[in-house]
Amino acid sequence: MDSFVYRDGQLCVEDVPLTAVAERFGTPCYVYSHAALTQTFQSFVRPFGARPHLICYAAKANSSLAILNLFARLGSGFDIVSGGELERVLAAGGQADKVVFSGVGKRKDEIVLALEHEILCFNVESESELARISQLAAATGRTARISLRVNPDVDPKTHPYISTGLKENKFGVPVDEAVRIYRHARTLPGVAIAGIDYHIGSQITEIPPFLDALDTLLSLVDQLRAEGIVLHHLDLGGGLGIRYHDEIPPAPAEYIGALLQRLAARQHTILLEPGRALVGNAGVLLTRVEYLKHGETRNFAVVDAAMNDLLRPALYDAFHEIRPVAQRRGNERRYEVVGPICESGDFLGHDRLLDLREGDLMSVMSAGAYGMSMSSNYNTRPRAPEVMANGSELQLIRQRETVAELMAHETVSAISSAQKN
Ligand code: LLP
Repeated sequence: MDSFVYRDGQLCVEDVPLTAVAERFGTPCYVYSHAALTQTFQSFVRPFGARPHLICYAAKANSSLAILNLFARLGSGFDIVSGGELERVLAAGGQADKVVFSGVGKRKDEIVLALEHEILCFNVESESELARISQLAAATGRTARISLRVNPDVDPKTHPYISTGLKENKFGVPVDEAVRIYRHARTLPGVAIAGIDYHIGSQITEIPPFLDALDTLLSLVDQLRAEGIVLHHLDLGGGLGIRYHDEIPPAPAEYIGALLQRLAARQHTILLEPGRALVGNAGVLLTRVEYLKHGETRNFAVVDAAMNDLLRPALYDAFHEIRPVAQRRGNERRYEVVGPICESGDFLGHDRLLDLREGDLMSVMSAGAYGMSMSSNYNTRPRAPEVMANGSELQLIRQRETVAELMAHETVSAISSAQKN
C-alpha cells in the first residue's frame, strides 16, 4: 500500500498534504504513516496463519518510541543490539520476553541488564560471548536462553557494507563449528539452548539467498537433533528489501510463504527480524529548497536536510526517490540535490530531473528505515522532528532538538582551568 500519494497535485501523507506538515512542524522533518506501518506489520504476521511465530522488529531500523510502541501494541517482539535499545523497547511498552539480543560486542552490563529482564534469547555470536553470558548468568543465579548465530556463507547480493552472512564478515560462528559449540553450550552453567539464528544481510531483493541459508541451517538442525540437542525456535533474521527505485523485492507473503514451504515438516517456532521492510516505505524526509545554483556544468538544489539527517546516500551511495510536494511541470532541469553540510559527500540525490523554485518543498521517499536512527548532530545541526500521520491527524512524536540541548552535556571548565596555568 502507498500512503504517500498525490491529491490535486499535492503530495499527501494519508489524508494530510505535506505542505500542512511543513507549516506546522517546519523542515527538515520525518513523516510517518500509521496506516502503512500497521498494514506492513500485518503483512508479515498473516502468512504464518496458525504456525507458531514471532516477528522481532529490528529496532535499529527506527527506534523511535512511538514506532516501537505501535509495533508492541500489534504484538511484535524486538531484535535489539544494545542495552540502550532494550531500554527503549521497555520504555515503549515492549515485552522483554519477546526480545532477542543480537550483536558481536555485548558488554557485561548489557548482558546483565538483559538477564535481569529475562529476555527471550541471546543471539550469541562467538564462543567468548557464550562463556561471558554463562558466567554472568550463573553468578546471578539466572538462566540465559541462547541461540547461536551461524554464518551460512551465503552471498545475499547486496551492498558489501550491509551483507553479513559471508565467511569474511565479523558476524556469527562458522557453520562447521556450530555443532561443537552447541555441545559445549550444553555443559555450561546458566545457559539453556533455545534456538539457532542467522542474518545474512540487508536490502535483499530475491528469495534464493534466504532459501540457501535456510537449507544450511536445517541440515545443522538435523545434526544437532542426532546428538540430542533439540531446538525450540529457528530465527531466520531480517533482510527483506524494499523498493527504493526500480527494485522488485518479493512481498512479505511471498518471502514467508517460500520459507514456510521449506519448514512444513518442522515443529519449530519461527522468528523473523525484519527492520527495513517494516518501516522503510512508511516514512519520508520532508525538506525545503533553500537555494538554487545554476552552474556551467551542474545545477544544485541546496535543501535544508543533509547527510546528518539521512546518511544513506553519503554512506552507501543509496538511492532515495525525491519528489516535489507540489507538482509543477515545464521547467525541468537536472539537479544535484545537496545539503548544507561542508562535505562533498553531503548529497541526497544525483542528477534528478525536477522543476524547482527556491522555497519549494520536497519529499525524500523511503526514509523510514535507517534514517532517523542513523542521524547525527554533525555541523551542530539539531536533529529533525518526527511526525506520525493517522488519517487526517498529525502527532508530533519527537520534537526538533535545540542547540542548547546539543550543548547540555558539555563543559568549558577544563579549558578555563588550563588557561590559568
Ligand atoms: N537482524 C540483525 C541481526 C541485523 O543485524 C539486522 C540489520 C536486521 C535484523 C534487520 O535487517 P533489515 O531487515 O533491516 O534488512 N544501515 C543499513 C542497514 C544495516 C543493517 C544492519 N543489520 C542501511 O541503511 O541500509
